[in-house]
Amino acid sequence: MLEINGLKVYDNGNQNGKTLLFVHGFPLTSNMWKYQTEYFIKDHRCITYDIRGLGNSSAGDGQFTMEYFVDDLIYIVNTLELDKPILCGLSMGGYISLRAVEKYPQLFGGLILMDTRSEADSNEGKLKRAAGIKRINEEGAMPFISDFVPNCFYKSSIERLGDKYISFLEEAKSNSAIGVKGSLLAMLSRTDTTEFLSQIEIPTLLICGEFDALTSPPVMKSMADKIPNSTFEVIPDCGHLSPYESGDKVNEVMDRFLLKL
Ligand code: MLT
Repeated sequence: MLEINGLKVYDNGNQNGKTLLFVHGFPLTSNMWKYQTEYFIKDHRCITYDIRGLGNSSAGDGQFTMEYFVDDLIYIVNTLELDKPILCGLSMGGYISLRAVEKYPQLFGGLILMDTRSEADSNEGKLKRAAGIKRINEEGAMPFISDFVPNCFYKSSIERLGDKYISFLEEAKSNSAIGVKGSLLAMLSRTDTTEFLSQIEIPTLLICGEFDALTSPPVMKSMADKIPNSTFEVIPDCGHLSPYESGDKVNEVMDRFLLKL
């Protein structure tokens, strides 16, 4: 494990292969990419990291913006001297990835967006985030996370995953209140990247869980329709966390995409 600018970074796999740079969702940790890193390390260099304030990365004062998260990502790319990594972001990780490609299109060789959207938060969404911050101020982060995470999974995945689901939830619950509130602030103040979608020039794969309750397949299909060189895939029988709920299927779809790069 490396420490780069206060962030815990995990750099594993085949250093001669293509580089996959994974950006996790909220309020999770880099461990959500477990099934992808296990599978892709044979032929690829796999880099995951804990977003500032989450997992083992430092929370500091928790005054985060999406721009700050993008700066962190670019700092990792530059420090590790990554040559055109393929950026793979889920949900909040997708917000970070889209904004990073918008700002620095020349740095990346491909883009994989999972269970995410390009629109900024609506007024209703912003108020929901504000209510989340208020709740965390009053009760700490655990009750908020305990309610948020189950909504991310398709019900039958929870039953199927059993202990794996329990340990996933426990790990999310160990995130700090400052870090979780920092992510909420960053998400509620992020810019809208929809206008930029038609200008994405790198090959892009969009993946969505069939029963994703947060970013449904039609939302991602409409993004894919705007991105010129893109492929859209729906993963059956899973929710918002397709790479964890249906790791094998997601790996298969990613494999097909990566072979063409
Ligand atoms: C995530 O999975 O990263 C979050 O659900 C994103 C969000 O709340 O907008």
